[in-house]
Amino acid sequence: MTVQFSLGSNAPESTTTPVAVVGVYENGVLTSAAARIDTAAGGAIKRLVEAGDITGKVGNVVTLLHPAGVAAARVLVVGLGAQKTFDAARYQRVTLEAARAVGRLPVTEAVNWLPEVEVPGRDAAWRLRVAALATDHAAYRYTATVKPRDKSLPELATMTLVGPADGEAGLAEARAIAEGVRYAKELGNLPPNICNPDYIADQAKAFADAHEGVTFESLDRADMEREGFGSLLAVARGSANAPRLVILQWNGGKDGERPYAFVGKGITFDTGGISLKPGPGMEEMKFDMCGAAGVLGAFVAAVKLKLAVNLVCVVPAVENMPDGDSYRPGDVLTSLSGITIEVLNTDAEGRLILCDALTYTGKRFDPHTMIDAATLTGACVVALGKHASGLMTKDESLSAELLAAGEATLDRAWRLPLWDDYQSQLDSGFADVANLGGKYAGAITAGCFLSRFTEGRRWAHLDIAGTAWDEGRKGMATGRPVPLLTQWLLDRVAAG
Ligand code: BES
Ligand code: MN
Ligand code: ZN
Repeated sequence: MTVQFSLGSNAPESTTTPVAVVGVYENGVLTSAAARIDTAAGGAIKRLVEAGDITGKVGNVVTLLHPAGVAAARVLVVGLGAQKTFDAARYQRVTLEAARAVGRLPVTEAVNWLPEVEVPGRDAAWRLRVAALATDHAAYRYTATVKPRDKSLPELATMTLVGPADGEAGLAEARAIAEGVRYAKELGNLPPNICNPDYIADQAKAFADAHEGVTFESLDRADMEREGFGSLLAVARGSANAPRLVILQWNGGKDGERPYAFVGKGITFDTGGISLKPGPGMEEMKFDMCGAAGVLGAFVAAVKLKLAVNLVCVVPAVENMPDGDSYRPGDVLTSLSGITIEVLNTDAEGRLILCDALTYTGKRFDPHTMIDAATLTGACVVALGKHASGLMTKDESLSAELLAAGEATLDRAWRLPLWDDYQSQLDSGFADVANLGGKYAGAITAGCFLSRFTEGRRWAHLDIAGTAWDEGRKGMATGRPVPLLTQWLLDRVAAG
């Protein structure tokens, strides 16, 4: 369950709540809600600023307990950092810090005045939306296979965000996106012995069953053999978990209008196959289905918003394992498109399942635009780090649309070139294309590989290897790129 959000407009000093959240800048300037509470409380906040307890720095959060003259049981004073340089990213950061601090208190509800703070270039709906999403992000706990550490702390159930009545649209978007993000996080975080190809298909089917207007289909191994998914099926061969191709459709748009298509890499575990990965950190390769989780999450958000678009979501779900029957380096595969592929490394498997999924999606649905999301290359993480997803497309307008959607949601992407100059790195003497592009520009050559299967289509590729999860032993799925993809759809609807 996501946190339940509502829109509030009450006076801060007279609102009865377990926690009132307000902000202070580094220069000691109080936001208007903080100032009103301070006045009602006889200067209680300013005294703490002067004493140096409240610094206004980002990460400095001070809780006043039962301040006299104020209806709230607690006042949480959140540092906003320097006022002069306050911007959208900082706003997102401080709303997250605030929600984390609320999460450490024994409360199930709170009222938050931070959305009243001015953010350059962003409106109230945006502020409400970002605060809601940051709050739901902070409140998420993975509990499917582990008990909560501190059972005495209740979960945050409801948060009132204070803003103008016309900000309600922002909250409605936030509720839907939060659902989609949670869906993506949960699938991503589940262990690979649970979240296998059948599990992903079952979850997609359950969502379709529970939502009118959503249709579910899937292809199993036999179906794909019949159709000729020679590349995808080669990757699947080493695993005891059979592959599935999952297809969800939502027809919220006009009859006969070409759909938008999302395709997501769903490698439920990536050992590397015969080109086995090193042991340390291999458990993180359970996240190799985060592209699938991301496009499914965006689909969930689109359905929750009942967006007036036709949308199809295609997920190749496959496990990449070493086995006596595994595909090998040197194998030449015939893809669904007819293009032959020389396997030089069985760990470059994502492109091998995506190429068939892209071919299938293109042929069957003739989409207006096709976007894939994939944890495709470590090279993309080297290039862009953990902050930006890699965007590759030859279509200038699609590039601009996706970059803008990333900027709007702070779920940002950054473009890498797909120039033909790179294509020769995929040359092979034994097939039309090799699945490996050598040591340079690994993210781009992976994109180039996919481009061979999307010729003539309006297509973009998002490499989310760096952004889909936080690394480390306790790193969790982030739910990216659900906000970006959902925003892109919202923008398409708005553009008409
Ligand atoms: N799933 C990995 C990419 C990956 C690696 C994502 C680490 C996030 C963190 C992908 O299937 C893979 O193994 N890619 C190889 C490609 C190489 C063999 C061309 C890689 O990045 O090393
Ligand atoms: Mn791999
Ligand atoms: Zn992989």
